[in-house]
Amino acid sequence: MTLAERYRAALAPVVPMETSIEIARGEGSYLAATDGRRYLDLVMGIAVNALGYGHPAVIRAVTEQVSRHMHVYSGSGYQESVVAFAEALTAEVGADSLVFFGNSGAEAVEAAIKAARFATKRPAIIAFRGSFHGRTLGALSLTASAARYRSAYEPLLPSVYHLDYPAPTRLDMTPDEAFQHVRQQMDQLLTLEVEPEQVACVVVEGIQGEGGYVVPPAGFVPWLRKLTRDHGMLLVMDEVQTGLGRTGRMWSYQHEHIEPDLITLGKALGGGLPLGALIGRGEVLDAWTGGLHGSTFGGNPVSCAAGLATLTVIRDEGLVERAQVLGEAALARLEELAALPEIREVRGRGLMLAVEFQGQDAAAHVERVLRRGLERGLYLHPAGVRHEVIRLMPPLNIGESALLDAIGVVADVIQETAHVRS
Ligand SMILES: Cc1ncc(COP(=O)(O)O)c(C=O)c1O
Repeated sequence: MTLAERYRAALAPVVPMETSIEIARGEGSYLAATDGRRYLDLVMGIAVNALGYGHPAVIRAVTEQVSRHMHVYSGSGYQESVVAFAEALTAEVGADSLVFFGNSGAEAVEAAIKAARFATKRPAIIAFRGSFHGRTLGALSLTASAARYRSAYEPLLPSVYHLDYPAPTRLDMTPDEAFQHVRQQMDQLLTLEVEPEQVACVVVEGIQGEGGYVVPPAGFVPWLRKLTRDHGMLLVMDEVQTGLGRTGRMWSYQHEHIEPDLITLGKALGGGLPLGALIGRGEVLDAWTGGLHGSTFGGNPVSCAAGLATLTVIRDEGLVERAQVLGEAALARLEELAALPEIREVRGRGLMLAVEFQGQDAAAHVERVLRRGLERGLYLHPAGVRHEVIRLMPPLNIGESALLDAIGVVADVIQETAHVRS
């Protein structure tokens, strides 16, 4: 039996298979298949492998920790790799912050919901349409990037309210209009549906990820910061996809010069191993005691060792600044695509880059580009609420020419596939 046949026989079909690649190994920025083909991987486990595959510092840290112990429950005893990583993270977030480790982005969001409700003693949560916060039932209650993710699992958490995210192309507005529109929606929500004193937190992505790499208008996040502070709500920045330097700042909220109350992390956090975290201001998390939350594997020492090695390389090699500079060069190259009639917009921040297609055929065209890209040795991923966007999530240490060449291939492939019928 082929691997595909064995998958069909043994695995639940709920996760759709995007390619027919039989994966042999990862090598830096490339994925090698068992048939000998190599693909430049601009997906990276969905924005997970910030240093690509097989970075020696990460492998060294993992091997060293594995040889000591692979798992001890986080409440069983004191572990060096766990506290060392927490210290490194708090140094990046702010001196008085505290860390709770879970296993994934969704778990980090679950922890944020529970911590915010506990700290404020309020029930309600405000989130945004087009957002993706995970698929566990609490996190899913905030996710609103596709009705099909939610519909089969209703009822979800009550007291969750959604507003539009100020996504200009989705709303067909200018950035200023989109921002104004969301302010009006917030006014209406807090007047007509839920009193501000009932709202525990506002949960928001600094750049919408799954929603299409949407960079909000300047001022949106600072406005949320002020509004939440004025009403005693907590501001939760979901940095699961944006965190650890991808946007050209360590955390995306640093572009807006604000300090959130809580931050959720996942994806790149574990250096390729499963890990999630909630980081919060001491005064919010200090009283969260006595087993009110926890997880068997959360803060696994091997994941923490891999995460610390990854963060150390990112910091020591200046990869955050590099993401900013390389991102600007990549965006300038992508701008050449903006003139094509099929393209609605190119956008991004740092190494979170996107091409949005327009028209009836947008999603089908994206699908053709992904397929043809693979034939040309390029692995790409869609995004956007209708899958009308291609997102590029290269490792932060990708070679400049590899990335710029890849964008050239994307340009070719878009034109080649413009008028082909699926
Ligand atoms: C912004 C954001 N939050 C949360 C999640 C959920 O993370 P996980 O898939 O690790 O549960 C994701 C995953 O794509 C994400 O992009």
